[in-house]
Amino acid sequence: MVKLTPPMGWNSWNTFGEKINEKLIRETADIMAESGLLECGYDYLVIDDCWSLKERDEEGRLVPDPEKFPGGMKAVADYVHSRGLKFGMYSCVGNLTCAGYPGSYEHEFIDAETFAGWGVDFLKYDYCYHSPIVAGKYLYRRMGLALENCGRDILFSACSWGADETHEWIKESAASMWRSTGDIFDTWESVKKLIKQQEKLHPYNGVGCFNDMDMLIVGMYGKGNVGLKGCTDVQYKTHYSVWALLGSPLMIGCDIRNMNEETRKILMNRELIRINQDPVCRQPVKLTGIWSGEDMVMYARMLSDGDIAIGLFNLSEEKGVGRFNLDELGLPMSTGKTLEMKEVWTGEKFTVKNGTVMRKLEPFDCEVFRAGVVEQ
Ligand code: GLA
Repeated sequence: MVKLTPPMGWNSWNTFGEKINEKLIRETADIMAESGLLECGYDYLVIDDCWSLKERDEEGRLVPDPEKFPGGMKAVADYVHSRGLKFGMYSCVGNLTCAGYPGSYEHEFIDAETFAGWGVDFLKYDYCYHSPIVAGKYLYRRMGLALENCGRDILFSACSWGADETHEWIKESAASMWRSTGDIFDTWESVKKLIKQQEKLHPYNGVGCFNDMDMLIVGMYGKGNVGLKGCTDVQYKTHYSVWALLGSPLMIGCDIRNMNEETRKILMNRELIRINQDPVCRQPVKLTGIWSGEDMVMYARMLSDGDIAIGLFNLSEEKGVGRFNLDELGLPMSTGKTLEMKEVWTGEKFTVKNGTVMRKLEPFDCEVFRAGVVEQ
């Protein structure tokens, strides 16, 4: 399976945890298809952990829990496909999944065949209960190989949380995305922690295998499985903007059947999605900036048409000022060029004067620009 841009979709874990069932999945598929999410590019609907019985059948196959999925998984997959979406499922390298259901250890090929038979298009593969004697790289390589040989194009989404230097070996395994962080929770502290965890991992993100900063918490407001305190709309906007700009997969984690207007606006910002899905997926540059402080995080990314995406993120609870020089972007005054900036949330436009950008930001707020090179 070759995936050229960061995968987008919805995953059941953040809000629903073990409380998943066929009705929820059908309703979610309907909303993805009808709300505009699918049109924006969110095309994978993924069922996370807790979908199976605790025992395999006599032939060693995984069995969907008949209480949660009375019609079986093939019927769920067929319905998801009928709505124009792709269908994702979950397993784990260990004997057990993180929530204690059977994992795929030493059942990799039979499980890959089972998933293919149901019409699965995406497999998230977790790292709990992994063998103490077989290194992670071999366990992911096994499932990668099993999927490549199962007769169906299945996107392999590795989820070893960046443990055991995942970045050094994950691309060997045929994974199209890999979790480069620990688990997200619906708090600002968690978002901030994951942004910092990414810092050294940007060089590993690129076309074909994307750094997955974990599913989005936008629109959860403290409800559901990883709900905790919840965040404000401004914090969700900044969280989404960072994930999008840095080229992470965008997997929605809230209950989209009950999205409010603000959540819709955040998840369907077309300009930001266009930046996230830029076909070259170049490495982001962390800007040093000028006297901006460590909680004013600024990133830029060269895009495929010569534009530059630039994000200024105020991660602190104080007002802040983001300042940087165009020198840092390869555009000193001596070139005779400057940038024409367009902000993706407000549509504000301006041309940079004197080679310096200086923007004031409210607590937790951000600005993301698409900037074009123009004459001074
Ligand atoms: C791990 C993963 C989560 C989720 C749970 C399910 O914690 O990192 O994303 O899949 O397992 O149990």
